[in-house]
Amino acid sequence: MEATILGEPLPYEDRIRGVGSFKYVDVEEYFNLHRKTLEDFEGFWASIARELEWFKPFERVVEPGDHPYVYKWFSGGLINISYLALDRNVRGGRKNKVAYIWEGEPVDEGGVPREVRKLTYYDLYREVNRVAYMLRNSFGLRKGDRVAIYLPMIPELPIFMLVAARLGVIFTVVFAGFTAENLAVRINDLGATLLITADGFYRRGRIIRLKDVADRALETTPTVKSVIVVRRLGLKDVNMVEGRDYWFDELMKGVPSNVYVEPEPMESNETLYVLYTSGTTGRPKGIMHDHGGYAVLLHATMKWVFDIRDDDVYYCTADIGWVTGHSYIVFGPLIEGATIVMYEGAPDYPAPDRVWSIVERYGVTILYTTPILVRMLMRFGDGWVKRHDRSTLRLIHSVGEPINPAAWRWLYEVVGERRCPVGSTWWMTETGGILISHAPGLALAPLKPGTNGPPLPGVDADVVDEEGEPIEPGRKGFLVIKRPWPGMPAAPTGMWGDPGRYRQVYWEKIPGKGLFFTGDWAIKDADGYIWVLGRADEVLKVAGHRIGTYELESILVSHKAVAEAAVVGAPDPVKGEVPVAFVTLREGFTRTKELEEELKQWVRDKYGSIAVPTHVFFVSKLPKTRSGKIMRRLLIAILTNKPLGDITTLEDEAAVEEARKAYEELSRELKEVTYR
Ligand code: WTA
Repeated sequence: MEATILGEPLPYEDRIRGVGSFKYVDVEEYFNLHRKTLEDFEGFWASIARELEWFKPFERVVEPGDHPYVYKWFSGGLINISYLALDRNVRGGRKNKVAYIWEGEPVDEGGVPREVRKLTYYDLYREVNRVAYMLRNSFGLRKGDRVAIYLPMIPELPIFMLVAARLGVIFTVVFAGFTAENLAVRINDLGATLLITADGFYRRGRIIRLKDVADRALETTPTVKSVIVVRRLGLKDVNMVEGRDYWFDELMKGVPSNVYVEPEPMESNETLYVLYTSGTTGRPKGIMHDHGGYAVLLHATMKWVFDIRDDDVYYCTADIGWVTGHSYIVFGPLIEGATIVMYEGAPDYPAPDRVWSIVERYGVTILYTTPILVRMLMRFGDGWVKRHDRSTLRLIHSVGEPINPAAWRWLYEVVGERRCPVGSTWWMTETGGILISHAPGLALAPLKPGTNGPPLPGVDADVVDEEGEPIEPGRKGFLVIKRPWPGMPAAPTGMWGDPGRYRQVYWEKIPGKGLFFTGDWAIKDADGYIWVLGRADEVLKVAGHRIGTYELESILVSHKAVAEAAVVGAPDPVKGEVPVAFVTLREGFTRTKELEEELKQWVRDKYGSIAVPTHVFFVSKLPKTRSGKIMRRLLIAILTNKPLGDITTLEDEAAVEEARKAYEELSRELKEVTYR
């Protein structure tokens, strides 16, 4: 079967050469360069690492850690990522350069933003020092302590991340769109003693009362002793618990304006943060990142992928609650001393041209966005784009899920007017930074609509079969990384508190070969370019957000009416993929539209609106293999009206006959369903 992205064939031969003023190379030249970086693997990464400032030089480039498949990068080196992001820029001539241009969501008539805050590197440096001073003196925070940050897209979010980094305090950021349950699970897994949150924020013209959500989480988080609340909205009726909850502005009142808190010298492998991401089973996985290796990968990719320069205005449309924001709104661009645009609210508020008006208002030169956003904005027509000046743009990338060729072409032709290279940067929470992408800042190989491009220098990626053997170009297989890379899940355990699970999930899916299993389907074409097609495991990518089907199934079966549940991802022309649920009911409950709505609301309350299934189908039984595994591919085939035989599979899920019978039965049962 021919591979597609959202039903569009992959244009392997559609090579677009020499865009903008970037240094053009042909495919062969690029891979020559790439090969050299792998031949001198350690020397190559060491040379990149030396471009950063170390308090003490590292002694080794890479070595095995204390648990299988945990590697240590730049051991012995002392470094602090907050120092690289702030002190180094302040001392290096960027003192009064703007670091963040922040725009709040609300607008006045005519679409003019009501609030814009500009923070220079020096402003940020002073504020981070003051907050660090306050946290240390008023809360006694020290290296190794843990905090949870549950903040919306306001400048205090990067500020608290930088403060924690400076003190060597391990932090986890929880996406502000997450529910109390999701927040509590993360706080408890990390054992955070301090929670930093806000009274609320604006989203699509509405007020979201964040502290109320945090309060519900705090009922089940015994480790949290204190809560700091940032006043974003100025709400009057916020519940503040005496002796536990403190207003941030009141805490800061007594802090002198010129304090200096020395950045903690961190051994390269010591933990910077833990970010939770969904897996196929159980609790979310706490992926660990360090100071040294992580900073090196971000530095390299900011140069190669984004070609970042001092006169750039860089705008990433992601949310800092996800890894993209951690790496490419906060640490990566700050290390490079970039001017970063940060926007609080919804990208289509008050009108579908908000993103383009931001590009025009600040003269954005580099845009980093997502396929979902592109597909959503495309639908409103070219007029919204064209009414804004985009002549400053010189480079565009997307991230988070495969970009279909039509969306790619729209970015290339309409948004960038064929002046800007457009890329689709592949990476994941676990990789810390981009690993597969075009590298316009280094050498721009031909573009192709929808491809991720070649692996970056020093990155050994391949597509293999289930035995871990390379497969021929054009065939679908598993994307793997064949050597460690800086920025990988960090020592000591890779996954917070669970080195065994780290080993199983990433290194033992294909046993014995030392390959990092990404969980993605991909094709390598004859040029050696990678085309990631989507997840090969039971993880959904809904509007770019990673959600385990298992998590949604657990929520559904916790409802009194539900006996069993199966959630699958159905293709969606805008969101890429949407969750669809199949449930069987307990005795005494009947299939009604009201119950369907109730179950959707149940998921919204327990997980957040991003995960609400578009449909909940009531069925009499779920198709399962003899070993009890739900036959998801069969459910997807039914949903998309595809014959069962069309489903490509590497793992044999069930006896063919049995599957066919289940398929026919279920198709009959769902005849009336129009979802296609
Ligand atoms: C998917 C986001 C195709 C992939 C940075 C991966 C992509 C998962 C791309 C990680 C891309 C990310 N093309 N697929 N350019 N970028 N993915 O952890 O399935 O939220 O495994 O990290 O997103 O999602 P995560």
